Amino acid sequence: MKKLEQLYEGKAKKVFKTDDPNLYIVDYKDDATAFNGLKKGTIEGKGIINNRVSNHLMKMLEKNGIPTHLVEEISDRETVVKKVTIIPLEVIVRNIAAGSLAKRLGLEEGTKLKHTVLEYCYKSDELGDPLVNDYHIYALGIATKEELDLIASYSFQINQLMSDYLKDLNIELIDYKIEFGKTPDGTIILADEISPDTCRFWDSVTGEKLDKDRFRRDLGNVEGAYHEIMKRLLGE
Ligand code: TMP
Ligand code: ASP
Repeated sequence: MKKLEQLYEGKAKKVFKTDDPNLYIVDYKDDATAFNGLKKGTIEGKGIINNRVSNHLMKMLEKNGIPTHLVEEISDRETVVKKVTIIPLEVIVRNIAAGSLAKRLGLEEGTKLKHTVLEYCYKSDELGDPLVNDYHIYALGIATKEELDLIASYSFQINQLMSDYLKDLNIELIDYKIEFGKTPDGTIILADEISPDTCRFWDSVTGEKLDKDRFRRDLGNVEGAYHEIMKRLLGE
């Protein structure tokens, strides 16, 4: 397969067309941003780690019945994925209060939630990805009730599968953000990435943060944390 022209460049990835109309190639960058692009930096080797970690987790999910965009990893930073139109929602699942939820509801970070929380943010850089509910999503025509029910069901299944998988590696899944896409035939599948950029991972024993919060909050040893996640998941 041939890599053709660049279709899109995001904050952390580039997407290319290929000579197969149903496939794209994603290319992971080391660039890091936070706070809607206000904070910018580089995390050395992040693109390689996120490519490998995301593919590893998607493979595990796929094996357990979640349809994903993953086709094949073709290099350190590049993966062939199914062509989708991204549904403009950041689907956030939370097990433990942290980040914006802790702030919004006045909870101490680390508070165990009595119930899993599912949130949606409308993906719009201009608007700063505002929090929306089911009715906003129907009203804006972002997804139908049937589609959103499926997205919610996948999101909870993914939470169970990822939490169990990571627990054995002494990683606590605090919260995460996922995105779904629609293939040309209208099937909804998991897309984008699952990585330390898009999840909060805490060491279950020490509580150490092993994710992008180290960059967002200037906690130091950002690269070390990303490496630690890759080591625990992939053994290297
Ligand atoms: P939040 O607490 O800042 O709302 O973040 C919730 C989760 O979503 C956290 O695991 C980080 C992830 N996230 C992204 O992947 N992209 C984003 O733009 C934001 C704000 C959060
Ligand atoms: N990547 C997002 C941005 O640039 C935010 C984040 O992950 O914190 O704003």
